[in-house]
Order: sequence, then structure tokens, then C-alpha cells
Amino acid sequence: MSEPTSQDKPQEKPTIARKAVHNMHHTAYRCRDAEQTRWFYEDVLGFKLAAAMVFDEEPGAAKKREYMHLFFQTTDGNFIAFFDVPDDVEEKMFIARHGFDQHIAFEVDSLEQLKAWRRHINKMGRPCFGPIDHGFVHSIYMYDPNGVQVELTLKDKNYDAILAEDSAKAHDVLKEWTERTRAQKLERLQADMLDQRGIDMSKADFSKVKQEGAQS
Ligand SMILES: [Fe+2]
Repeated sequence: MSEPTSQDKPQEKPTIARKAVHNMHHTAYRCRDAEQTRWFYEDVLGFKLAAAMVFDEEPGAAKKREYMHLFFQTTDGNFIAFFDVPDDVEEKMFIARHGFDQHIAFEVDSLEQLKAWRRHINKMGRPCFGPIDHGFVHSIYMYDPNGVQVELTLKDKNYDAILAEDSAKAHDVLKEWTERTRAQKLERLQADMLDQRGIDMSKADFSKVKQEGAQS
């Protein structure tokens, strides 16, 4: 009997080492109107309109639906993106969200710049307030025409030291916080709703999701 050759072995799936994900490419929101959104991000905040893509099929759902995907680029190459979906737009989608629920922050380089931006934004007809001193950063706030809160922020001169100190104790502070607030959370959410870290994937249905490639 001959020695087994490599061809007799079952085909092994190649394993790919996961490298760290990096950079925030974009964050995306729904908009009430593409042109009004362009006005705010391009004319008011000075971002570059990098793309205005028109699609006719909802991604992943193989469902006919015309929409525009807009991308505005910051000077460091990242994007804030929007969806304009004419057949699925309702005023309730654009109720101004509390900053705790959602906001996005962009950086400026000096306190003078921060104040100059506040004056400019107010002059353009968008209420803008601040600066607010958060210790590690100083920020002004406004809303875009879609109810998304936008923050312009300046790193404090002691930013690196403050974050280094915070970073060293972050896990301990989080642990203490979780223990101290658990009872209050359980009272409001109940145990089965509080922990949403994972579901039984064998029961998940991905049959209707249109995916690229079959082996990945
Ligand atoms: Fe913030």
C-alpha cells in the first residue's frame, strides 16, 4: 500500500489571519433632502462633495428602490455619508436626536477657530452654541437639517496627558460602573433585554440577504 499523497487529504479551507480593522471610513445617516444636506456640509461646513451615487436596488435585499448615497469628505480623507430615499421619507425620521443618542464630532485646531466657526454657522442661519469645556476637549454644537447633532471640537492642550491617565484606569472605572448601575438597569430593561451580546446564530435567517461571493 502506498503512502497517502497530498491529493488524498481532505481539502482544507485556507485560514486568513485577521488584522486589526483601521480608520473610520464613513458614518451614514438618512437625509430629508440631498441638496439641503449638500448645502449644510459643503457650503456651511466646507466639506468636499466626494460622491452622489444613484442606485435602484436596496443593498443586500434585492429590492427595487431608487436612492441616492451622498459622501462628504473631510480633509483627512474620511467621510460622512447620507441616504436620500424619496419613496421612504417621513418627518419623524428627522426629529433632532439628543446628543446622548447620536452625534458626530469633527476637529478644529484652535479656540479662535472654534469661535470663528460658531459665528459663521450662526450667520448661515444654523443655531450653534458653545464652546463647552469638557476638560479633554472644548466643543461647539449644532444640528444639521436632518436632526443629526454635529460637534466641532478642539483638543485641550493637556489632551494627551488627560487621555493617558484615563486610559490607564478605564477598565477599572468601567467595572465599578457596571456593578454600581446593574440594579437600576435590571429594573428598567429586565435581565433578558439587558444582555444583548450574542444570539444563537444557528437560528438566524440570512436566506434573504443577497451576498457577494459564496466562499467568504
Ligand atoms: Fe462628542
